[in-house]
Amino acid sequence: MNILYIGSGFVGACSAAISASSGHNVLVYDIDEKKIKMLSSGDRGTIESCLFEEGLGDLLVRNKERIEFTADYKKVESFLDVCGAIFMCLPTPEIGETGESNLNYYFDAADKLSQALLNRNKKKQDKYIVIVNKSTVPIDMVDKTQEIMDKAGVKNYGVVSNPEFLVEGKAVQGSLKPDRVVVGAWKEEDFKIMREVYERFYNSPTVSYIEINPKEAAASKLLANFYLAYKLIACYDVIGRTCETFEDLKFENIRNVLVTDKRIGNWGFFDSLYAGGSCLVKDIRSLSHQLQTSGTDASLVNEIYQGNKRQLELFISRAKNEANFNWKDKKVALLGVAFKRDTNDIRNSPSIDIMHFLNDNGISEVSIFDPAAMEYFKQVFPESKTIKYKDSELEALSDCDVVIIATDWPQFKSLGDLILERVGNKKPLIMDGRRMLQHRYEDLQNAGFNIVAVGSPFLKAKK
Ligand SMILES: NC(=O)c1ccc[n+]([C@@H]2O[C@H](COP(=O)([O-])OP(=O)(O)OC[C@H]3O[C@@H](n4cnc5c(N)ncnc54)[C@H](O)[C@@H]3O)[C@@H](O)[C@H]2O)c1
Repeated sequence: MNILYIGSGFVGACSAAISASSGHNVLVYDIDEKKIKMLSSGDRGTIESCLFEEGLGDLLVRNKERIEFTADYKKVESFLDVCGAIFMCLPTPEIGETGESNLNYYFDAADKLSQALLNRNKKKQDKYIVIVNKSTVPIDMVDKTQEIMDKAGVKNYGVVSNPEFLVEGKAVQGSLKPDRVVVGAWKEEDFKIMREVYERFYNSPTVSYIEINPKEAAASKLLANFYLAYKLIACYDVIGRTCETFEDLKFENIRNVLVTDKRIGNWGFFDSLYAGGSCLVKDIRSLSHQLQTSGTDASLVNEIYQGNKRQLELFISRAKNEANFNWKDKKVALLGVAFKRDTNDIRNSPSIDIMHFLNDNGISEVSIFDPAAMEYFKQVFPESKTIKYKDSELEALSDCDVVIIATDWPQFKSLGDLILERVGNKKPLIMDGRRMLQHRYEDLQNAGFNIVAVGSPFLKAKK
């Protein structure tokens, strides 16, 4: 099938690559010319410096005969003559702190698309086409998409909701072996086209292929993210907090007990300073907004949002309140700026809030290291007299008064050795926002380091 993707971000580029590897001919359109140039470079390194997703470079290079990236809308217009499905992969960020989704990117793309659709097949519009909402959108979005198309006079089309469940950092592997594919449509004709798009999964014994209506599909995406956020934040705000409150409770030991109960399950049992990223928080905010504007109480959803904010505030405040640390004129090492490991995505990363806090608290310098995300972070926080980017953890640690571990990059697990062997006599305060050093806390305390860690009470130096 010929498939068009509008938007070549994490979702658009990864889904398009999977479609091409499934044998479809794919055109990917984006307004960001730089991104298009990098994604179509044919060079793995360049592709992955644009979107750091393991395997994406390989997939795009291997399937280059079947996938084209373009910023030229004329190519889109002629492709529509032969196209069977259009995937809308546009951003839907929160507007400020309102919970409402900013649908302007979507509407701009849909308006332009509606005009182009009118002209397909020499204005006869005789090829049936489906418009697929892959962006995470409000529950009634199918109606809005239909309104735009009907108003413009588009004919012979269907609107489908096919929410994306990819996990950043594992997007390619996850999309090649998804747990489920969810297709929401009103018409059998639309389901048939989507079965063709997803032939490799429709007939797979390991994938749940779920056909429901488009509103159910859109709602399931929001509710799935609500549930994931709920598990994560309950882990920080209740389990982690309990372990911070009472002596002699090791987070990992408590977790091992909880996860052996099948009813509880084993996902999401790690402690962290914050659940960031572009999706979880905005999706629970959107759910809350939709419930509240429909007159329904959303207290529990809102409390999860607050619990996440509370976690980061508490973590930062513990330096002063528990370790008696004064930030003024201090040198800070900030390790990790990606919102989580295995990605270069910094959207809603806790390090952004940490940087604002550091700026407001008169530190003398912050040295930053992240294995993948520094280029994007530099665009928000450019190098300056107080902000330095370093080539390694060790360089960032040099002469610091406090080290903050904000991302769970696996390589940070060996920071304990580095700190014990290579950091001089200064004994910086260690702030472990991911429990990366939990296996070395005792050694570090014995060597004279104070530690503030999520999921532990204040760990005072033993000498
Ligand atoms: N990133 C994830 O992990 C993830 C997972 C599941 C669902 N989602 C949802 O998928 C959607 C896209 O997310 P993303 O992470 O890929 O976003 P993204 O910001 O990485 O990519 C969106 C792309 O759309 C492009 N764009 C904006 N306006 C355009 C227009 N008018 N025409 C063409 N292109 C345009 C942007 O330039 C950008 O490249 C969002 O609704 C998000 O909530 C994201």
